[in-house]
Amino acid sequence: DGFAAERLFGQGYSYTYDDVIFLPHYIDFSTDAVCLSTRLSKRVSLSIPCVSSPMDTVSESHMAASMAALGGIGIVHYNCDIETQASVIRHAKSLRVPIASDAVFKCPDHQITSVDDFGPSSFVFVSQTGTLTPNLLGYVSKSEWSNLKDDQKEMKIYDYMRSCEDKDYSVPWDIDLDKIEAVLEDKQKGFVVLDKDGEAVNVVTKDDVDRVKGYPKLGSGTVGSDKKWMVGAAIGTRESDKERLEHLVKAGANVVVLDSSQGNSIYQLEMIKYVKKSYPELDVIGGNVVTMYQAENLIQAGADGLRVGMGSGSICTTQEVCAVGRGQATAVYKVSTLAAQHGVPVIADGGISNSGHIVKALVLGASTVMMGSFLAGSTEAPGAYEYRNGRRVKKYRGMGSLEAMTKGSDQRYLGDTAKLKIAQGVVGAVADKGSVLKFIPYTMHAVKQGFQDLGASSLESAHKLLRDNTLRLEARTGAAQIEGGIHGLVSYEKKSF
Ligand code: XMP
Repeated sequence: DGFAAERLFGQGYSYTYDDVIFLPHYIDFSTDAVCLSTRLSKRVSLSIPCVSSPMDTVSESHMAASMAALGGIGIVHYNCDIETQASVIRHAKSLRVPIASDAVFKCPDHQITSVDDFGPSSFVFVSQTGTLTPNLLGYVSKSEWSNLKDDQKEMKIYDYMRSCEDKDYSVPWDIDLDKIEAVLEDKQKGFVVLDKDGEAVNVVTKDDVDRVKGYPKLGSGTVGSDKKWMVGAAIGTRESDKERLEHLVKAGANVVVLDSSQGNSIYQLEMIKYVKKSYPELDVIGGNVVTMYQAENLIQAGADGLRVGMGSGSICTTQEVCAVGRGQATAVYKVSTLAAQHGVPVIADGGISNSGHIVKALVLGASTVMMGSFLAGSTEAPGAYEYRNGRRVKKYRGMGSLEAMTKGSDQRYLGDTAKLKIAQGVVGAVADKGSVLKFIPYTMHAVKQGFQDLGASSLESAHKLLRDNTLRLEARTGAAQIEGGIHGLVSYEKKSF
C-alpha cells in the first residue's frame, strides 16, 4: 500500500512538505515514550530537534539562550560587526535563566509620559545608559507611578524614582528559577538582577517568574563543556570571516555554520578545510545544499553537518529570481540519504510552518529543523512588537532582502564581489506567538504524536523504517491538500496554544 520513499522521490518531481503525506503505521507505545533527542552535527547533541535560523529578525541572545534551555540550539546571525556578534554570543551564554524579560529601561533625565511606557511590565528601570548595563540607578513601579499627581508625572524620572543599588537586588546569574522565586518571596522585592562577575546580565521580575512557571517543561538544556548554553554562530566565507571566527570562538561559540544560499562553492570548500585545520574541536556545518552532488563535495571537504534548503523559506525568492532550488521534501530526502552513508546529520532549513512539516522533515531523514518564520513572532525574537491591521506582529525579513543586504548580509547571496544588489528575499511581518518557552514544548508534543502514528519511537527508528520501506507515503493531489486542511467552514477560530 502506498509508495516507498525511494520510489516516490525517484520520479522527477520536486515535492514540498505539503505535497506528500505519510500513511499511518502501527502503534505499540505511548506518545511520552517517543524520544526526539538528536544531533545537530557530528559532535553536537541536542535533546530536541529545533534550531533557530541565523537571521537578524530571529536569532540574537534571548533566542539562542531560550533555544538552548529548551534542548535545541540557536545560531546567531552575522549581519553586524564582529564585536557585536561576539557580544551577542557572550550574552546568550550568560542568560542562565532564559527569560526574555519585558523590562523597560530609561535614562534618569527621561520622563514617563503615560502608563503605556511600562509596556507589559510592572516596572520601568532606570540606568545612566537607558539599558541594563552598567548598573541600575533605580526603578519606578507602575502602581506607584499611577498614584503620582499630574504635576509630579511631568518631572524627570530621577526626581521620583526609587533608588536602588544593584547589590541589594543581585543574585548569581546561574541560580535557577525556583531559587529566584524563593528570593523574591523572601526579600519581598518585585525583581532581581542576575549578576555575573559584577556585571548585570538580566533582570527577572515576579511577573516573569509567574509566567514562565506556567509553561510546559521539556527535558534538559543544551550545555557545553564550559557549563554554559551551547550557542552556534553563522559566518561567511570571505577572508575577513577568518578573523570573525577567531573572535566568535573566543566568545564561546560551540559550532559554526557557513551561511550561503548555494554552499557548493570553492569558497566554502576552502573555508571548511580552514576551520577543520585551525579549530579541530569545532564542528562546522556547511550549506545550503539540495542535491547529493553538492552534499558529497561538502562532506569530502570535512563538513560535520549539512544545512538543506534552497528557496523553500517563507521569505525566499531565490527560486523565482535565479531559477534554482528544489522542493524541500525532495531535497531533505535526497541529501539525507547520501549524508546518512557518511554519518553526517542534516538540518532541514526553511519551509516549516506547522508541526506536521517538522514530522515530515525528520522522518524524511533530517536530524533537526531550522526555523525562521516559525520563531520570528516570539517574545525572544529581536525587535519590538507593532500593530498592523489590528494585529500584534513582529518584523521578519529575508537575509537576501534589500533591507537586510543594505545592512551587510549581501555575501550570503552575492558570494563574490558583485556590485549590483539583486534581492532574493522580502521584508514582512509575522503574528505574535508568545514565548518559545511556551509554544515549542507544545509543538514537540505534537511532533511526538506524529511519530507515534508512524510507529517510530525515535528519529533513528523513523529513519530506519523509511529506509527499509516499511513507512509508506503518497503525493497529495491539489484537492487532497485542500481536504487535509481546514475547509468548508463559514468561519473558524484559530487558537494558538
Ligand atoms: P522559514 O521558512 O523558516 O525560512 O522562514 C528560513 C530560512 O530561509 C532562508 N533565507 C532566505 N532564503 N532569501 C532566500 O532565498 C532570503 O532572503 C532568505 N533569508 C533567509 C534561510 O535558509 C533561513 O534559515
